Amino acid sequence: MAVDRFGRRIDYLRISVTDRCNLRCIYCMPAEGVAWRSHEEVLSFEEIERFAAVAVEEGISKIRLTGGEPLVRRGIIDHIGRLRAITGLEAIALTTNGTLLPKMAPALAEAGLTRVNISLDSLNPDVYTHVTRGGRLEDALAGVDAAFAAGMGPVKINCVVVRSLDQDLFAFASMTLERPVHVRFIEYMPVGGESEPTPGGSCASDTTAGDWTEADHVPSDETLATLIAEGLAAGYGELEAVPRGEAPGGWGPASYYRFPGALGTIGVISPLSHHFCGECNRLRLTADGKLRMCLFSDDELDVRDVLRSGSEQDLHDVIRKALASKPESHNMRIGTLRRMSQIGG
Ligand code: 5AD
Ligand code: SF4
Repeated sequence: MAVDRFGRRIDYLRISVTDRCNLRCIYCMPAEGVAWRSHEEVLSFEEIERFAAVAVEEGISKIRLTGGEPLVRRGIIDHIGRLRAITGLEAIALTTNGTLLPKMAPALAEAGLTRVNISLDSLNPDVYTHVTRGGRLEDALAGVDAAFAAGMGPVKINCVVVRSLDQDLFAFASMTLERPVHVRFIEYMPVGGESEPTPGGSCASDTTAGDWTEADHVPSDETLATLIAEGLAAGYGELEAVPRGEAPGGWGPASYYRFPGALGTIGVISPLSHHFCGECNRLRLTADGKLRMCLFSDDELDVRDVLRSGSEQDLHDVIRKALASKPESHNMRIGTLRRMSQIGG
């Protein structure tokens, strides 16, 4: 069992398998001129699998694959199959924009993947196309359908709430009535946008993360209040809190709610308005082989060098070092050097 110096049990590893994506969400990537990591810079599947096996020996029991868009990387399905075979790994999950699921969900399910989180920020076709800079809502919705058709579950939808997008959040709430889908509203976070490291990681409130502004941040309590009011107005009844033990198999900090009789749930994730660093359970591996101890900290350990020239023991040591240096909480610095597409959420 891996415990960090603040007594937190660290059993969850997020692995970004690529920084590339077939969409260009406005809060995640610039419209153009993205400098992709080269083939040599990105960890091979074999390297990821070696690292994952050592991480599992060190106490990791859950792995989530992220990107960019993980399904654009060739060979991903077999990679998932090999990761699943690691002794001691209890579960594997995928975060995807869903657009490739119509093609890939059956084979993914066959490889043993059941847990998918699909990023979907609006059910309005025009807003979706605007947010994704050209994506088609019908493709993402077909992805949700494909996940269910392949027998996957839990199927979750991640919706980043951005005030100026004026999203119709209640449209998502309605979805949970008829389908066992878990829609999670995530507070928009200031990730990316920095070009220089901030000395000492001090608060740099004069910089912005990409286009992030305080005005665009909607606290989860406000999102919930809107859903409660609209639920009552629509005759759905009172939105009820789902007890922790009954939450749809989650590894993270979401709080879940449900309309009476609904098949699915509504979750909120509040990284800014309610600090959950005390319950943080995760490490992140970037596609170019850097281990990040905190989403909001640019402090990283180089795993790629160790994989390419170190020993098995060195790999164990780098994970122990990560546990020893994981920060207690984020310092509310505005922005990070890496964009979200380079971290994997
Ligand atoms: N704030 C909050 N969530 C974000 N995501 C990407 N960028 C941000 C941001 N700045 C979400 C994606 C995906 C998940 C991995 O993180 O939409 O669902
Ligand atoms: Fe954990 Fe860092 Fe996120 Fe806080 S900000 S919850 S320490 S990853």
